[in-house]
Amino acid sequence: MKQIIIFFAIAALFAACGGNNTSDDGPKTPPKSMIADPVEDDGKGVGEIKEVKLNNPLVASMVEKGKSIYEMKCAACHKLTDQRVVGPGWAGLTEKRKPEWIMNMITNVEVMLAEDPTAQALLEECLVRMPNQNMSIGDARDVLEFMYSIDGKEVGE
Ligand code: HEC
Repeated sequence: MKQIIIFFAIAALFAACGGNNTSDDGPKTPPKSMIADPVEDDGKGVGEIKEVKLNNPLVASMVEKGKSIYEMKCAACHKLTDQRVVGPGWAGLTEKRKPEWIMNMITNVEVMLAEDPTAQALLEECLVRMPNQNMSIGDARDVLEFMYSIDGKEVGE
């Protein structure tokens, strides 16, 4: 008898926690008219940079300049391996992201962190907002050239 009472007590407990699945007020998704049209993510990020012309082979003077900018402004948070410090390591970056995305991330980081889904995912992972580095588009282009050299692209004269 005691077991039966305990059984019912437990059953009642589960019933109480089970939520209210019996009420049926239809699907919970809002009507279609309330959902904003999803914007197609073209992987180029948000910002001024729409199209980047790549050099093949890379331009040695740009790689050099990009490297010194990296050492001055980026090395505190970014390694050249795939190891994360504050921000993600840069190894393999040019294979993962489009050049336009990388340059928009460098020159327009606040907007990228607010609007670009890939940048937002990185922020969730790193938990630190990359600060605006006041980078000109020209400087960002040199850093991009340097990034391709890290990933083993050939550097010319
Ligand atoms: C204070 C630390 C810090 C500095 C300095 C910094 N970054 Fe970042 N960076 C981050 C963090 C953190 C992220 C990841 C996104 C986030 O959480 O904001 C990031 C992300 C990036 C990404 C995207 C990486 C990926 O895996 O897609 C690029 C590109 C980048 N930074 C370039 C630069 C460049 C270029 C500089 C130097 C001019 C620089 N960063 C300086 C912290 C920094």
